[in-house]
Amino acid sequence: MDKNVRPDSMVRITTKELADAFIEKQIAELKAQIGNGKVLLALSGGVDSSVVAALLIRAVGKQLVCVHVNHGLMRKGESEQVIEVFEKQLGANLIYIDATDRFLDKLAGVSDPERKRKIIGAEFIEVFSEEAEKLSGIKFLGQGTIYPDILESDGVKAHHNVGGLPERYNFELVEPVKLLFKDEVRVVGKALGLPDSMVYRQPFPGPGLGVRCLGAITRDRLAALREADAILREEFDKCGLAQKVWQYFIAVPDFKSTGVKDGKRYEGWPAIIRAINTKDAMTASIEEVPYPVLKKITSRILNEVQGINRVLFDLSPKPVATIEWE
Ligand code: XMP
Repeated sequence: MDKNVRPDSMVRITTKELADAFIEKQIAELKAQIGNGKVLLALSGGVDSSVVAALLIRAVGKQLVCVHVNHGLMRKGESEQVIEVFEKQLGANLIYIDATDRFLDKLAGVSDPERKRKIIGAEFIEVFSEEAEKLSGIKFLGQGTIYPDILESDGVKAHHNVGGLPERYNFELVEPVKLLFKDEVRVVGKALGLPDSMVYRQPFPGPGLGVRCLGAITRDRLAALREADAILREEFDKCGLAQKVWQYFIAVPDFKSTGVKDGKRYEGWPAIIRAINTKDAMTASIEEVPYPVLKKITSRILNEVQGINRVLFDLSPKPVATIEWE
């Protein structure tokens, strides 16, 4: 039987009971596969890698080494949450690498979106490989591959491509959720006790805010984007839209317009709000965000975020527009 094919007999995991049964079975299988070996896992804080980490912690405890690479393009508070949940609450063996300067230095002056993505992907593998080199006796590589990754590609997680790690490491892959669909991964994550903010996290591209800080990334514009994005998330949380809208974020282009603040000219960037609904990200429609919510977000961003002097709402469905701006 092909291990990468979901058997017809496999019941969709929709309840805590089914999730608990899955967890118990996986723990036994992980123990059998790993024995007393060591497992390395790139922990981004996304749902898939977080669930894999939590499963591995249950199965092999400190034999798991998690590496969280902060590429400086995370949303506000995300790296802190990874440390809080995995190191402090779950007692994981976690190596935290703040590689912000490395990534931002490499990206300085680069405006081509494809080159930006390539630089981020390559640098991620570089940083992760350096960590792997420092550790000894690692035999296994944990991966948050899920079933759509297998169906849609060659089985390698497209973002952060840890599967692109140099072959010389010869790691044996550990992929406990590879036959699960996203909704099932979330049910399992909840049963494992992960916080809702992690389990129900909206999709976030591997290159992170890098594809939303349009054109050549600068630290000041990236900081403005991160703050504006945090305000959008906070306000969507408060009014219940966070549970309803599939993906919502801010993009900040690399041009300024004239404004006025405290009686003086105030040149600033626009913050563009995008809030979309979709089933499969192939097409997307626009969420009709209530006007008072938009007004509140606009007022907060203009008052609280240094460097932003206009707030715009993107009304464009996919197609013709893509979900991300780059
Ligand atoms: P687009 O912009 O192509 O986005 O309509 C479709 C979905 O894919 C996400 N996306 C990415 N995810 N790495 C990722 O892991 C990427 O480079 C990337 N680019 C886009 C996007 O957020 C949306 O959900």
